[in-house]
Amino acid sequence: MTGSVGVLGGAGTVGRTAVERLRGFGLPVRIGGRDLDRAGEVAEANGSTAVRVDLFDDASLEAFCAGCSVVLNCAGPSYRILDRVARAALSAGAGYVDAAGDLVAVEALAQDPPAGLSQHAAVFSAGLMPGLSGLLPRLLLDGSPVARLDVYVGGSVEISAASAVDALLTRGPKFGHALAVWRDGQVAQHSLAPLRSITLPGFHGRVHAVPFLSTEMIGLASAAGLPELRNYTVYATDNLPRAFATAWADDDESPEAHAAAIVQAARRDVEDHGRHYAVLAYARPPAGSGLVPRRVLLRTPDSYPLSGVVAAIAAREVAAGAVAPGAHYASEALNPQTVARELAGDPWVSELAQGSPAR
Ligand SMILES: NC(=O)c1ccc[n+]([C@@H]2O[C@H](COP(=O)([O-])OP(=O)(O)OC[C@H]3O[C@@H](n4cnc5c(N)ncnc54)[C@H](OP(=O)(O)O)[C@@H]3O)[C@@H](O)[C@H]2O)c1
Repeated sequence: MTGSVGVLGGAGTVGRTAVERLRGFGLPVRIGGRDLDRAGEVAEANGSTAVRVDLFDDASLEAFCAGCSVVLNCAGPSYRILDRVARAALSAGAGYVDAAGDLVAVEALAQDPPAGLSQHAAVFSAGLMPGLSGLLPRLLLDGSPVARLDVYVGGSVEISAASAVDALLTRGPKFGHALAVWRDGQVAQHSLAPLRSITLPGFHGRVHAVPFLSTEMIGLASAAGLPELRNYTVYATDNLPRAFATAWADDDESPEAHAAAIVQAARRDVEDHGRHYAVLAYARPPAGSGLVPRRVLLRTPDSYPLSGVVAAIAAREVAAGAVAPGAHYASEALNPQTVARELAGDPWVSELAQGSPAR
């Protein structure tokens, strides 16, 4: 595929790192945003071009996508954007990658699939969570029997306002089930309790692990035919769970009205506990099989730039034609070994290890 990778939101926290990696892969990049000065600074630092674009303006979005081989969306909140940028990219003859997007964007696209989807790939949720959270555990699903998979994702990082709105809107059974477990082919509600003040390999100090069976994990468990999967979101303190509970209890206000409280709660965690994030997955073999448990652990100082790295790898794979046409989730469409090899040498990864834990 010829043409630039158009990074919408390329001057943001996620987008900036995506631009750096795409340039490192030797791909030409066009950076888009409403603030041309900010986009221009990132473009200058990375030998690329900058274009003023407001994604909610049809004409400027169309002009931004024209001539791109792939459009990578790093603007948010994705629950306001939905499939808007994907449709513009596909109708311009480009592939598409979204650092977020998630179920609602894929559903919106699927309701009236554009013609371009039969020729180009559209990859959603190409970040850390969702994204690597569903992809890395697949390293453990290599044919050896697994009786139970436990996944822990989280830590202590600042949350952007765009992400806070996304997180506030991803609520309800469509997105996942609190305290549920995947067991024998179905969701078993009210099966797990939060693990409070525990220590986990790769996570700093004592943390709280809150069970949340996300749709990403349901997809992973059902595709792999896993007998059991437990998924936990890990928090450094109660600050964020409390802020989310307060926001969700207030039906009168829009999610935007509560975004500042989420941003503040995450900032307090970082002030008190530093900045760190991890993905940890354990695969337990069937009892009596003679096999040993295996785990994969990834640690990063910050999930936002690492999401940019994942989004850039996804855009490279789409540009190279390595992803089949159609709408996909990154955790299912990308090759876990390819991504792991790439991440192992990335400065935003402090550790990526696989092996048998002494646990
Ligand atoms: N999957 C994951 O793990 C993960 C992790 C982190 C973030 N994310 C997602 O990634 C997205 C970006 O997060 P972020 O923290 O990087 O946000 P950010 O720092 O606020 O950056 C957003 C970028 O989008 C641009 N933008 C915003 N509205 C725009 C519009 N109407 N038209 C054109 N450009 C626009 C902004 O530039 P201008 O203001 O100049 O327009 C900015 O460069 C969010 O959807 C977030 O939920 C996903």
